[in-house]
Amino acid sequence: MSIIILGIESSCDDTSAAVIADGMLRSNIISGQDVHMKYGGVVPELASRAHQQNIVPVVDTALREAGISKQEISAIGFTRGPGLMGSLLVGTSFAKGFALAMNIPMLEINHLQAHILVHFITEPGVDKSHPSFPFICLLVSGGHTQLVLVKDHLSMEILGQTIDDAAGEAFDKCARVMGLPYPGGPWIDRHAREGNPDAFKFSRPSAGGLNYSFSGLKTSFLYFLRDAEKSDPGFLKRNLSDLCASLQQAITDVLMANLLKVSENTGIKEIALAGGVAANSGLRNAVTEAAKKHNWKAFIPKPAFTTDNAAMIAINAYYKYLEKDFAPQDTVPEARLRFSP
Ligand code: KG4
Ligand code: ZN
Repeated sequence: MSIIILGIESSCDDTSAAVIADGMLRSNIISGQDVHMKYGGVVPELASRAHQQNIVPVVDTALREAGISKQEISAIGFTRGPGLMGSLLVGTSFAKGFALAMNIPMLEINHLQAHILVHFITEPGVDKSHPSFPFICLLVSGGHTQLVLVKDHLSMEILGQTIDDAAGEAFDKCARVMGLPYPGGPWIDRHAREGNPDAFKFSRPSAGGLNYSFSGLKTSFLYFLRDAEKSDPGFLKRNLSDLCASLQQAITDVLMANLLKVSENTGIKEIALAGGVAANSGLRNAVTEAAKKHNWKAFIPKPAFTTDNAAMIAINAYYKYLEKDFAPQDTVPEARLRFSP
């Protein structure tokens, strides 16, 4: 009998539902929330309200697109954390109600570990090889920056992480300083394509060992821009592409330094990228180049699997289902959920 998983993602500002049948993706519906744009960041209360409005239509569309009826679903997986509490509550409550009504098990999923497991999603007609264990994953999102040793689908260890801001936060905050819309990462990426990455030299901060630190870069960028604009009004407008390209290069260099170090330290040459910032073309190119130079086997997810989506929740739930690692009905969301080792 087929194992059919319905995955639900609602940790931040995307409501998403996906269906995976025996590890094969059947649908992945994502509904973003434009309401936050005018505030320059996610407003938690508005996010949770939008999730409430979106969740039923999103699930309905995911089931219809997959050609699967509610009765055929074996289990439901949902994001338990980390994320915004009000947002997580919507997905968790939906999953509980659905599991009770259909009398099926639930699987609680760690959003970050799920980002990494996108590398195991199979899609109809797509011939894709999966990383073999153990591999290293650079997980870069809006809230997290981590170097993860992936020992198995369900066993992961954090080897290094940011001690302050995440890489995505650095992109978004610097974008805001330049007056770009939220989230700024994709905008910086777009402008960077037209710019010179060596035009300006920004600091490449390190936190020691395999850890990262991005708050200094953000502050030095802010001061640099403020001073430049003061002595040369219109500086930002005239140099936007070069500023974006140089900033993107600095963030990429910082991320790559520890990735190279961890591969050297461990001898592991299977290297994966995951999380929203993995959509960044500068970072993707840098990993591809490093792979050629250091003989890595690199795994870079397609852009749709980098940002938040429920396909990653469903694939993680599928592996937990195989282990019968079910969640009880009294499971509560956890805004700061840690990795399960
Ligand atoms: O993984 P994600 O969708 O949400 C979290 O779990 O945080 O990541 C969102 C982050 C945002 O900071 C966004 O600016 C960044 O990913 N991002 C990018 C790009 N696309 C998304 N950053 C740089 N370049 C991109 N192309
Ligand atoms: Zn995410």
